[in-house]
Amino acid sequence: MTPRLIARARGTVLWDTEGREILDFTSGQMCATIGHNHPRIREAIRRACDGVLHLYSGMTAPVVVELSRRLAAMLPPTLSKSLFLSTGGEANEAALRMAKMSTGRHEVVGFTGSWHGMTAGAVSSTYVAAHQGYGPHVPGSMAIPAPNAYRCPIRHCQGTCDATCLDVGFDMVDAQSCGALAAAIVEPVQSCGGVIVPPEGYFAKLKRKCEERGMLLIFDEAQTALGRLGANFAFEVFGVVPDILCLSKTLGGGLPLSATLTSDAIEEDCHAKGFVHVTSHVSDPLPAEVGLAVLDVLEEDDLNRRALAIGDRLKTGLLALQQKYELIGDIRGFGLLLGVEIVKDRHTREPDAERGRAITRRCMELGLSMNIVSVAGLASVWRIAPPLTVSVEEIDRGLGILDDAIASVIGN
Ligand SMILES: Cc1ncc(COP(=O)(O)O)c(C=O)c1O
Repeated sequence: MTPRLIARARGTVLWDTEGREILDFTSGQMCATIGHNHPRIREAIRRACDGVLHLYSGMTAPVVVELSRRLAAMLPPTLSKSLFLSTGGEANEAALRMAKMSTGRHEVVGFTGSWHGMTAGAVSSTYVAAHQGYGPHVPGSMAIPAPNAYRCPIRHCQGTCDATCLDVGFDMVDAQSCGALAAAIVEPVQSCGGVIVPPEGYFAKLKRKCEERGMLLIFDEAQTALGRLGANFAFEVFGVVPDILCLSKTLGGGLPLSATLTSDAIEEDCHAKGFVHVTSHVSDPLPAEVGLAVLDVLEEDDLNRRALAIGDRLKTGLLALQQKYELIGDIRGFGLLLGVEIVKDRHTREPDAERGRAITRRCMELGLSMNIVSVAGLASVWRIAPPLTVSVEEIDRGLGILDDAIASVIGN
């Protein structure tokens, strides 16, 4: 927890209560993809204040219908039905409940290193943290190894994953299953688990394994949707359409808004079976107004293209730092979702959480907010994800601060 209190935010910049500037390379909690307090978000909030903020869950507002239509127009026809909620955990929870009701089964396959939220079902499939010490998880929750090419979970690959871990994972699932496999839930690029990008063909193989077993495939695109990977949705990049798609963080641009999207067939099936997923803020107009503003900015400012171009510049700068500093073991990711793994030794690849933390602290002292996430149980990967509206000057300034922070911690 940073000891500084933040009083103001604009774009990529935060100011603390003493007026000191901090560059935000985490987009808040990965939500502020169009930058903090974007003028269009402020306008949207004002519009909602003049119109309607909140309604009885059995009512709806034009803006909610409009958001549903806008998303449907961006998505394939099999993802045209939407349910709007507040948080990522809620969207995943609804997706899991839909999958269970639709298939009539209850077993859920997740990935080691995943983060899907803190509600009971979502946390049962969250394996990177918050999993132990809270009593039993939802029965039928199972984990398979995430395809981490830098740290092959089955000690098989080195550097490039050939997806053997997926076969091993499903062999274990099949051995454990009681015959009630409902769904697999996955982040297209695992973010909190160390920015793990699966190899080409991985999701097609996963989809086949799901189909063979009558399971639904759920993509949790909390962080990857709406520009960060240079596309509206990560599933487009990986060439596999999920049965259920969950959006959250980036859709609200900093306000709580999430969506669970699926096909007419699954929606009709669940509806016929009496599916209920009501919350106090289901389909609220205020966040929907903001969600529409986020989609407008994404399109008008061509943020997908921008994420790729600026992401390349950032990655080039990080690769230059890797040349300079032995402790940078691996750099991965694309667009504006990059991971930098800190190691004690490039040969042994032993994670260096201690120096990672010290450099992160030093960055903050120098005015750069960096987020360190876990891999192999140790917080040793910087997840670097500035807003997609970040300027070239801010990227270069951030890289300069990181360079200075590393140098000061390792004593150069
Ligand atoms: C991929 C992913 N899914 C779901 C969530 C949970 O979202 P929320 O905290 O809004 O419930 C997170 C949060 O970090 C996430 O990273």
